[in-house]
Amino acid sequence: MNNIIYLDAAASALKSESVIQRQVGFLTNEYANAGRGICARAAAVDSSVADVRAKIAKFINAPGPDNIIFTSGTTDGLNRVVHLVCKMDEFANRSITAAVSDIDHHSARMPWIASGANIVLCPMDESWAYDVSQIPVADVFVITAMSNVMGMRQNVSELINAARKKNPNVITVVDAAQYVVHADINASEWGADFICFSGHKIGADTGVGVMYIKNPERFTPDKFGGGMVVKITGDTSWMLENAPEKFEAGTMPLTQIIGMGVAIDYWKANRPDTNLIEYMHDKLSENPNVHVITQRDAALLTFYPKNMHVLDFGAMVGARGVCLRVGNMCAGWLHNAMKIPGTARISVGPWNTMDDAQNAIKIINDIVK
Ligand SMILES: Cc1ncc(COP(=O)(O)O)c(C=O)c1O
Repeated sequence: MNNIIYLDAAASALKSESVIQRQVGFLTNEYANAGRGICARAAAVDSSVADVRAKIAKFINAPGPDNIIFTSGTTDGLNRVVHLVCKMDEFANRSITAAVSDIDHHSARMPWIASGANIVLCPMDESWAYDVSQIPVADVFVITAMSNVMGMRQNVSELINAARKKNPNVITVVDAAQYVVHADINASEWGADFICFSGHKIGADTGVGVMYIKNPERFTPDKFGGGMVVKITGDTSWMLENAPEKFEAGTMPLTQIIGMGVAIDYWKANRPDTNLIEYMHDKLSENPNVHVITQRDAALLTFYPKNMHVLDFGAMVGARGVCLRVGNMCAGWLHNAMKIPGTARISVGPWNTMDDAQNAIKIINDIVK
């Protein structure tokens, strides 16, 4: 790995040889478009895409493959959810109230603000878990299943049940970008209306993600074009396919989708070893010039040096080959709420070893002293 210690899995995971080889094999020997051709090769691509869709449905315990819509990533999915919800008949003549929280990633909260929705804040407790007793009444509830700064799992089922007690028709949207890295999503148990995550954080390529929709028939598409039409019925009319095709206009990122099938198998068998996080948490907590923010059992380790700017720190550890994330982590609201301009974050993937953890700690403690 060119002598670097890659501790930035939460930003994007490195790729296993199995994923790389699957994508090379597809591009070299199997490539064709999906959902259009009738030759044997095109039909084989259709069946490979269908296999991956079915695998993802199983991976997140969704009722079936028709609930799985391919997107280009979590951000794409979360933005598309806003468009789908805004087009619903019930919101034709009134504005939407969306409950968001301070642990939301920019990708989860900004699209609702940009849509002109009324925004209400869901209070959090002192450890940045949702305060389940104070879920606001809202049309939409955005849930960050795991913050990319705090690394703790939220109790998604409990939150959804509490929100439904306040408004039985609430539409629940789960940002599972970090949760899916460390734990099994259970779409059927959660009961969420939408769940979004990216492939690249679980070892698939960039450019592919998933938008799970519980009841796809409730929504009309947000994008139009090839691959979603049964027939054109008049100059200005058409008949659409059912889900998932009706939400997948245009050519999909086929190579990435096919790689994602292999990535899921690899990831399920090789989840990141959070013992490394606990080890580094203990070591950094002993350094009086380091302020550790995350809990010991968090999935990642967030901290800041007390005696230097976090961006200077990032540049210095980076120059010594340690790749970690510094800044506001696209979680500006959480940093504002914590009243700190930025943090540093260590996150591990299946490729990391105890040697990586020990060497990184030596380098960090050498810089922050
Ligand atoms: C919690 C969370 N939500 C959303 C995103 C956005 O994911 P992507 O950049 O893959 O669209 C990220 C990525 O860091 C994230 O950590």
